[in-house]
Amino acid sequence: MLYMCPFQKLSNFLSFGNKQDKNWINEASEETATIESFNGTELVSQMKLIGLTVEDLKMIKKLQPLIEEHIDEIITGFYQSVLDIPKLKQMIAKYSSIDRLRATLKQHLLQMFCGTIDEEYIRTRLKIAEAHHRIGLESKWYLGAFQKLQNSFSNVISKKFHNQEEAQIINNIIAKLLNFEQQLVLD
Ligand code: HEM
Repeated sequence: MLYMCPFQKLSNFLSFGNKQDKNWINEASEETATIESFNGTELVSQMKLIGLTVEDLKMIKKLQPLIEEHIDEIITGFYQSVLDIPKLKQMIAKYSSIDRLRATLKQHLLQMFCGTIDEEYIRTRLKIAEAHHRIGLESKWYLGAFQKLQNSFSNVISKKFHNQEEAQIINNIIAKLLNFEQQLVLD
């Protein structure tokens, strides 16, 4: 089933197609994306530090259908790596289940590619931090698992975009989004 971001146009799902990536970056600027003002918080400075902009989020939003197309393999790869570590496997068995976590991670990653950073987005990340704190997940495992996600995104991008320069630009934007996520969850 297709994941619908709030206010997402159905046309977004149809726009990926098999089109060559040539004008893809220009087309992304036609997407709508939002970063809330977050007055009185450090969140804006955190995004500024890594250069995460609304233009980046437009690109992220345009990528969403591609990520959705590959989401199951990304999640399978993620949990294969995590379950390979006996300590992490035990933690999952003790506090949750793979089926449950697969579903929450899927929802989470697809929301990440909606092109909106608002209160709800931040709140969801803080809930993950709380969940991981509750089960005693150390930062080193969270960060390691994150690298696995980043590699999977990067593989999807390099398969789709044959123009190296374009693939690099897109991967850099994803890296910023993932870095912001880590700033929120590890704070
Ligand atoms: C919970 C994401 C790494 C184990 C969650 C939830 C999300 C999430 C979205 C659901 C939070 C909620 O219920 O609101 C992530 C991401 C990770 C990551 C994005 C890294 C990229 C890990 C690792 C483990 C793990 C390495 C290994 C043990 C768990 C468990 C829960 C959980 C057991 C359920 C906790 C509970 O229900 O009380 N995670 N996770 N996570 N995560 Fe992670």
